[in-house]
Amino acid sequence: MTPEPGARSRVHAPRAPVELRPAWRRADPKIERDAELFWRNERILPPRADVAARLSYLCVAGYDGDRLIALSEARITLIDFLQVKLAMLRIAVARDVRQHRLGTWLLTESRELLEAWSLENPAEEVMGMGTITQTAAYDGRGRARGYLRDSHLAFVGFTANGEHMRVAWFDHGTIPARRQNHFPLLGDHD
Ligand SMILES: CC(C)(COP(=O)(O)OP(=O)(O)OC[C@H]1O[C@@H](n2cnc3c(N)ncnc32)[C@H](O)[C@@H]1OP(=O)(O)O)[C@@H](O)C(=O)NCCC(=O)NCCS
Repeated sequence: MTPEPGARSRVHAPRAPVELRPAWRRADPKIERDAELFWRNERILPPRADVAARLSYLCVAGYDGDRLIALSEARITLIDFLQVKLAMLRIAVARDVRQHRLGTWLLTESRELLEAWSLENPAEEVMGMGTITQTAAYDGRGRARGYLRDSHLAFVGFTANGEHMRVAWFDHGTIPARRQNHFPLLGDHD
């Protein structure tokens, strides 16, 4: 998973050196060690975070040489208002390399990895990748794009907290024909 500027589906290439390594459902001990170090150095995890659970969500890790500089996590979640299961993605980029399109690249590559995995694992019934963007960080920018071409993420609405929710539907992703009255709820979306 190395950057291929000009590849068919890409609009933006990263502007800093990065090599992406798949981490999804691999329990790779090196990536797990590096992720814990990254979270600690970047002070990303809340104090009472469940580290074991967060490690089980690791999706794609971005390295510059031996240093982990970018990380995505995916959590399979039932989304009540859409009535589907999505891989809800969280991304983080090291402070000193932000705004070099590493986040954009990570979203794009994570979607491709998750889509391929979902296709190979139809029993999991994951229909797309979702994100919730804490918009406060971008408040100064005004209106945001509705559709992000690289990652295929499209705006679907605001959360109860006023954040942007976006979904990149997989090519094979389907939605129920009608809303079901008894859709199962996990009750712990985040
Ligand atoms: C959010 C985060 C992952 C973005 O990573 P990044 O590598 O800096 O993002 P990119 O360079 O790909 O930027 C994506 C877009 O957001 C814009 N952007 C990024 N950081 C921004 C900021 N602080 N203020 C305004 N715009 C910003 C970029 O200009 C770019 O817009 P463009 O495509 O129109 O040029 C990174 O800031 C981070 O790790 N933050 C802390 C963890 C976090 O908040 N994660 C997201 C949880 S919702």
